[in-house]
Amino acid sequence: MAVDIRNVTKKREQRYSYGLTLLRDCIEKDRVLPRDEDIFKKTILKVEDITINFGGLNALTDVNLELRDGELLAIIGPNGAGKTTLLNVISGFYRPQQGDVYFQDKKITHYSSHRIAEMGICRTFQNIALYTGLSVIDNIIAGRHPHIRYNFLIGMLYFPWARREEARQRAISEDIVDFLEMEHVRNTTVGTLAYGLRKRAELGRALALEPRVLLLDEPMAGMNLDEKEDIARFIIDIHEFLSIPIVMIEHDMGVVMDIADRIAVLDFGLKIGDGTPEEIRKNPKVVSAYLGEE
Ligand SMILES: Nc1ncnc2c1ncn2[C@@H]1O[C@H](COP(=O)(O)OP(=O)(O)OP(=O)(O)O)[C@@H](O)[C@H]1O
Ligand SMILES: [Mg+2]
Repeated sequence: MAVDIRNVTKKREQRYSYGLTLLRDCIEKDRVLPRDEDIFKKTILKVEDITINFGGLNALTDVNLELRDGELLAIIGPNGAGKTTLLNVISGFYRPQQGDVYFQDKKITHYSSHRIAEMGICRTFQNIALYTGLSVIDNIIAGRHPHIRYNFLIGMLYFPWARREEARQRAISEDIVDFLEMEHVRNTTVGTLAYGLRKRAELGRALALEPRVLLLDEPMAGMNLDEKEDIARFIIDIHEFLSIPIVMIEHDMGVVMDIADRIAVLDFGLKIGDGTPEEIRKNPKVVSAYLGEE
């Protein structure tokens, strides 16, 4: 069953506040907000001529892609097309044989995945990556790690200050739990959660990192319709409320067509389409490789 955007909108209207204000304050503290004239124009992330192969198999060939400020960009394409590989190249998990990745005009192709995450390119994984033995709230607090302003020694020496800092970090994390409507499982061990809630917790961890760009690899895969609508709602809320650009790999074409500003299509490691949902729907190459005739 495909997601019905009208249900998503209805649920969004019923909710009187987004929460996330503490997180938004953190993100906006040292950031210039996109100006209206930059929305959909200024390039935030650029992938230039990326080629990567694994033992003779070309996973990506000369792929170019731009993410602009304020955009929600979807990446679609058949299984094995190279979508996850592209996210892995952007986030520093794979090194391309050719080409470069730029974040706000800075070349980051050879930065470590750790450094890229600290710069604010935060992601979720197709196969969930969380501390399965920790609770939801502790996984989210763990995501705050790069932003915690004290170390153990200072914690011992300036105890009251460190206590305040800890309380602040906890409040930001609780805010994320509330936003994702996970209060009922906040203390549950992640490994025992149903799949949909684990994916939701992973989104929470990515948020805790204070993203400047969010990369989501199939955030709705394996979920029932209700859970998918919830995730779609959270993604739209995050995009609007935190004003961050988002890249989302997704197979649910209903959601993609309804919420993406732009869609890029990969097939056998080649980019075969890039445009608005309307343009993609009519692109003959995309129709024959992926969408199929109606
Ligand atoms: N680490 C790796 N070693 C070898 N081959 C790899 C590796 N990562 C990806 N590949 C290969 O690269 C190709 C693209 O894989 P990728 O995971 O990027 O596809 P995808 O578009 O994300 O597919 P799906 O929709 O199934 O998630 C596949 O043929 C895959 O087997
Ligand atoms: Mg994939």
